Amino acid sequence: MATAQKIIILDFGGQYTQLIARRVRECHVYSEVMPWSASAEAVRAREPSGVILSGGPASVNDPGAPRCDPAIYDLGVPVLGICYGMQLTAALLGGSVERAREREYGRVTVRMTGRDGLLKGLSDRSACWMSHTWQVSACPPGFHAVAETDNCPVAAMANEERRVYGVQFHPEVTHTDEGRKIIENFVLDICGCAGDWTMAGYIDIAVRRIREVAGDTGTVLLALSGGVDSSVAAALIHRAIGSRLTCVFVDHGLLRKGESEQVCRVFSELFPVRFVRVDAAERFFADLKGVTEPEQKRHIIGRDFIEVFKDAAKDLGRLDYFAQGTIYPDVIESGQGTSAAVIKSHHNVGGLPKELGFTELIEPLRMLFKDEVRALGEALGLPRDLVWRQPFPGPGLAIRIIGEVTPEKARIVRDTDAIFREEIAKAGLAGQVNQYFTVLTGVHSVGVMGDERTYDYTIALRAVTTDDFMTADWARLPYDVIAKVSERIVNEVPRASRVVLDVTSKPPASIEWE
Ligand code: XMP
Repeated sequence: MATAQKIIILDFGGQYTQLIARRVRECHVYSEVMPWSASAEAVRAREPSGVILSGGPASVNDPGAPRCDPAIYDLGVPVLGICYGMQLTAALLGGSVERAREREYGRVTVRMTGRDGLLKGLSDRSACWMSHTWQVSACPPGFHAVAETDNCPVAAMANEERRVYGVQFHPEVTHTDEGRKIIENFVLDICGCAGDWTMAGYIDIAVRRIREVAGDTGTVLLALSGGVDSSVAAALIHRAIGSRLTCVFVDHGLLRKGESEQVCRVFSELFPVRFVRVDAAERFFADLKGVTEPEQKRHIIGRDFIEVFKDAAKDLGRLDYFAQGTIYPDVIESGQGTSAAVIKSHHNVGGLPKELGFTELIEPLRMLFKDEVRALGEALGLPRDLVWRQPFPGPGLAIRIIGEVTPEKARIVRDTDAIFREEIAKAGLAGQVNQYFTVLTGVHSVGVMGDERTYDYTIALRAVTTDDFMTADWARLPYDVIAKVSERIVNEVPRASRVVLDVTSKPPASIEWE
């Protein structure tokens, strides 16, 4: 297998490091993040076409400031320092760095004075995202300034002969108007990458890394939730080590219609791992009996999940590694430092691996954003409807049942949800509405069915459009689609007698009802 061209990003703890990785991959060039302390030899061993030094919170003049191995500059591949990475380059190669007269933060107009190489094709003046207190006051020998601002005489520097560059601003953030062009110039023109990498290429790389860790005999345990991330992780690890992967799927009885069956089918037929399904619905319903408070429901479900999983794991014999479908947004949300390693020791998101005695984790999606995970899932051959699944909360349908959760209510919300999903799909709206589901409200209302008076549940339709799920607008679904859904729900689902539409945006309302 040919080694994919790649860019290595050395991480100095900057908040945008993973964004740099993403931007490089958007140029169809593979990128990997390594800690700043990686030796030049370790970097060379990964055969990079170029190296990017990220930003970071430290100041290079501090005695304890992180400094990369200076031999990185002698690897014979181009180097681009961003923010702290540029200042460090100046400091290590004989320039100087001083506190800026005025701290620059936010969008600043940068004048591009040298417009070839790194800045080829850029406008004379371009809005760039700055966030710095220190700056390069004198370029190292052989370097010259190629951009400036009113306050920062060296907003970018270059040594074309050595192919070493620095930018004080952040080309990786979208607030830098022409940032993408700078990244492209670096990885495609300067580093000479072909730009032919695709998500399919990631499979080869990730498979190799997993095999490096698991060796010829290592076994791996993974908790399958039925969601996109854990399914993609499972498919990927299966590709690497086959049935040495054991997947435990805890069915809490609160999944959507058809989901449990699909997970079982996919991981017994398409990706035949050692698959253990635990039907724990009874236990979950028993523990949820009489509970109406949403946070308490979440707590019980989280706790039961861990208990059930632990019990199941006990019977499996000793397994060597624990795998998780942690993706990059989870890493940011849990406030952990960045590390691109497929494996991260002693880190545990849910507490579960530690409780089970695992100290090492395999997290092959840790570097990926959601859309990249989906692309990877498709490339691995997972079913499209699984890969493009809308988000579904861990506590499942329990938080879509207002009040006490019972098997009957779960059946009602599951069946109404299935109808809603079917009609959205039929209307071709699945790609436009980001999340949609039904809620079993606690409200009973009077109806007439045939000649009989009924007094049954009111179902709410919730459908939102959103980019990030932090804010959302209610989806303007066509009336005829709503009409069809309503008609089918009251006709087909016993005990659902009325349908209402939720027309609240977030904020002030949350997406879920509980
Ligand atoms: P809210 O309701 O907070 O939802 O506006 C935002 C997104 O988060 C999902 N969500 C959850 N996901 N466990 C999860 O795994 C939960 O307890 C939970 N609560 C909400 C929700 O479906 C939406 O996508």
